[in-house]
Amino acid sequence: MVIKVTSLKTDNYDSDHRRLTTIQPKERTMRIPIIAGNWKLNNTVSESVSLTTALKPLVAGCTGVEIIVAPPFTALTSVSSAIADSNIQLAAQDVYSEDNGAFTGEVSAPMLKDVGCDYVIIGHSERRQYFGETNESVNQKVKAALAHGLKPIICVGEQLEERETGRTEAIIESHVTGGIAGLSATDLLSCVIAYEPVWAIGTGKTATPDQAQEVHNFIRGLLTSAYSAEVASQIRIQYGGSVKPENASELMAQPDVDGALVGGASLEAESFAEIVKFE
Ligand code: PGA
Repeated sequence: MVIKVTSLKTDNYDSDHRRLTTIQPKERTMRIPIIAGNWKLNNTVSESVSLTTALKPLVAGCTGVEIIVAPPFTALTSVSSAIADSNIQLAAQDVYSEDNGAFTGEVSAPMLKDVGCDYVIIGHSERRQYFGETNESVNQKVKAALAHGLKPIICVGEQLEERETGRTEAIIESHVTGGIAGLSATDLLSCVIAYEPVWAIGTGKTATPDQAQEVHNFIRGLLTSAYSAEVASQIRIQYGGSVKPENASELMAQPDVDGALVGGASLEAESFAEIVKFE
């Protein structure tokens, strides 16, 4: 659901000054910020529950922001129970395009819905790089997720060599248009796009706020051409790649950056909470 808000006053925690502040509304359609922690191949069930239990009180007072954790498949059920009475939502890190059948090792959208997932990350660059994910498979997975009421976080991003040879826009265009091919505007409105330059993931090299804004704005332009300016203005675009408490607020201050997809810094409750309180 995308919410149009013309006057929003949100109590928010100011991490620098250790106090609550009030965010003034911006004079435009507001996109609710969305901060997601992608735990990748980390954390057993008990470690996942401990991390969640530590995170909950740290973000309990945060409103006006969506907070998501994406544990490994094995911990989804336990984390789902642990967040039941909180403002944290649950995502899976991948999904298969078929609902059931002879697909050894896969996990389907109905199964993820069954354990309480709200979102699912699709097409992460590590899946494209190591597991042969393509724009076509991403698109099939996006459709399967939507068909079962899961909201896809569709990852797009160029590799270093692609950036250095001037192909960033071409790669982003193919990832975006390939990933959302055939979606209605209504379906698109349930999706989040995550721009993650591959060269910034896990490397400590964050895109500068200007570099992030440039690509986010390009993505919004693609959505405007494919749908409409109104639809494009409502889609949230997250930035991912070495987001840390120290750089989150300057990235989030960019007009087209609506959230963060956080890897390494989401594995510690304190640092993830600081990012959630980016204001
Ligand atoms: P990172 O990972 O924050 O560790 O760079 C981000 C991601 O891959 O989603």
